[in-house]
Amino acid sequence: MAFWWSLLVLALAFAIGKFLLWLIPPKVPSIDVDASDVLDDGNQAQENSFIYVPPRGAAQQSGTKVQCYEPATMKYLGYVPALTADEVREQVEKVRKAQKMWAKTSFKQRRQFLRILLKYIIKHQALICEISSRDTGKTMVDASLGEIMTTCEKIHWLLSEGEKWLKPEYRSSGRSMLHKSARVEFHPLGVIGAIVSWNYPFHNIFNPMLAALFSGNGIVIKISENASWSGCFYFRIIQSALAAIGAPEDLVEVITGFGETGEALVSSADKVIFVGSPGVGKMGPPLAGRYDMGALCMHEHSEKLEGLVHDAIDKGAEIVARGSFGPIGGDAVDQYYPPTVIVNVNHSMRLMQEEAFGPIMPIMKFSSDEEVVKLANDSRYGLGCAVFSGNQSHAREIASQIHCGFAAVNDFAATYMCQSLPFGGVKHSGFGRFGGAEGLRACCLVKAVVEDRWWPYIKTVIPKPIQYPVAENAFEFQESLVEALYGLSIWDRLKALVSVLKVLTEQNSTNSSKLK
Ligand SMILES: *[C@@H]1O[C@H](CO)[C@@H](O)[C@H](O)[C@H]1NC(C)=O
Ligand SMILES: *[C@@H]1O[C@H](CO)[C@@H](O)[C@H](O)[C@H]1NC(C)=O
Ligand SMILES: *[C@@H]1O[C@H](CO)[C@@H](O)[C@H](O)[C@H]1NC(C)=O
Ligand SMILES: *[C@@H]1O[C@H](CO)[C@@H](O)[C@H](O)[C@H]1NC(C)=O
Ligand SMILES: *[C@@H]1O[C@H](CO)[C@@H](O)[C@H](O)[C@H]1NC(C)=O
Ligand SMILES: *[C@@H]1O[C@H](CO)[C@@H](O)[C@H](O)[C@H]1NC(C)=O
Repeated sequence: MAFWWSLLVLALAFAIGKFLLWLIPPKVPSIDVDASDVLDDGNQAQENSFIYVPPRGAAQQSGTKVQCYEPATMKYLGYVPALTADEVREQVEKVRKAQKMWAKTSFKQRRQFLRILLKYIIKHQALICEISSRDTGKTMVDASLGEIMTTCEKIHWLLSEGEKWLKPEYRSSGRSMLHKSARVEFHPLGVIGAIVSWNYPFHNIFNPMLAALFSGNGIVIKISENASWSGCFYFRIIQSALAAIGAPEDLVEVITGFGETGEALVSSADKVIFVGSPGVGKMGPPLAGRYDMGALCMHEHSEKLEGLVHDAIDKGAEIVARGSFGPIGGDAVDQYYPPTVIVNVNHSMRLMQEEAFGPIMPIMKFSSDEEVVKLANDSRYGLGCAVFSGNQSHAREIASQIHCGFAAVNDFAATYMCQSLPFGGVKHSGFGRFGGAEGLRACCLVKAVVEDRWWPYIKTVIPKPIQYPVAENAFEFQESLVEALYGLSIWDRLKALVSVLKVLTEQNSTNSSKLK
């Protein structure tokens, strides 16, 4: 009796001890990142705060500088260099050198790097969002959802599951290799190149960087010429965190420039990831009371949206609801597009064929499930779908038939918040997957390994009849062996096994030397 009691007390003490340990916060160093030059001091009269008038046409695509400005106000923010192909190759080589050291780090060390970043992000949410908001014109709440929450979710997923998906995975070895153990190993590829879009400048840099570094790679990220100012600040956060764990700072490089810069990266990295994510120009509460909808990042974009809507109206469509701009200065109107709901559309209209990427909602009627699937499927794109219905299983049935990369049932883009899931589309909406176990493993050299299971007792032996010089009945032996291993009926397999054994015992009497 006393024995059981002491065992119970011990177990209880163990549980309490574990609980107390769980209460102790992990020791994570804080990092400092200089933000003095990116803070908005609100002083519009400052010398370098003039209104930026971007040149129109092809001229902006070339040159040695990327000009940065706030799309919502056209306030000038400064410029960053446009790297040449040679400069890009130099950066890739620097990262390659640093990666050799990083590849040897443990998952424990990599998790500490993630925790340092997480701590900084949580403490500086407002700063990160404000910088993203100024550079892209999105609202603070949009930035919080799309930049901060997604990134924290990703870090949390890597902390809790990253190692599980990257450690060697044992697989079945089949019938002919029963004596072997078979596994898949995930090794770093080397230098990952990422070309990322402007819509979520923080998350689009952090997302590929986190996956690449956690899997032991280095990364060079080419950021968009439309969100370079914020990207250069976010890069400093990564550098500080690398320094804090004593990792080589060259492990991550953020490069700026235009198309040629990106092309040079594609040709020199070991693998290239293209990143975009859904949605911009959504409605939301204002940043510092200035706007009540997000500005569109690219100044020609509102003209493109207007073109799509006009084309649809010319072909018989009708606007049923449209938002208004509210109190925005005349100079900035160019940067906004009012939320627009449009009906009587069909697939003869450009609006239904091209990617609008703006706050336009075209509505079509349908009368059967087949029809709605056919309509949704009739597109060059296939990133994701959202199906809404009062009957959840009905919505699920339709979602499973639409040809695309992800589906949200009775929700919008919720799949992206589950960072354990892969992200990517079909048709013109991309190739490959990032995010989730699939995306993490895509940063790896996937290596198949077999070794003896009961070493040194059982090794692969080549049966006598098929050893050189092969026996006369070698093929007969193979035939029986195949049936013994893979036959569908257990009786046929046993019969074949008997033949196999017979050939093995007979082999002394018939050998190939008779053929001479
Ligand atoms: C921004 O995007 C537009 C449209 O894609 C492009 O024409 C322009 O060159 C980009 N860069 C800058 C700095 O505006
Ligand atoms: C699209 O709608 C217009 C106007 O309602 C109609 O004239 C045209 O035939 C339709 N095209 C298709 C492909 O349905
Ligand atoms: C959907 O589109 C894909 C590819 O374009 C095609 O293979 C498939 O048959 C289509 N399905 C339906 C129901 O239209
Ligand atoms: C919901 O949808 C499923 C699948 O389409 C259907 O079998 C079921 O009868 C529907 N339930 C109701 C209550 O309509
Ligand atoms: C086959 O030959 C080897 C020697 O060459 C002998 O040791 C063995 O017993 C033989 N087996 C049979 C089944 O005759
Ligand atoms: C093969 O047959 C020859 C005679 O035909 C014999 O001398 C030789 O020992 C045999 N080899 C084996 C491995 O049994």
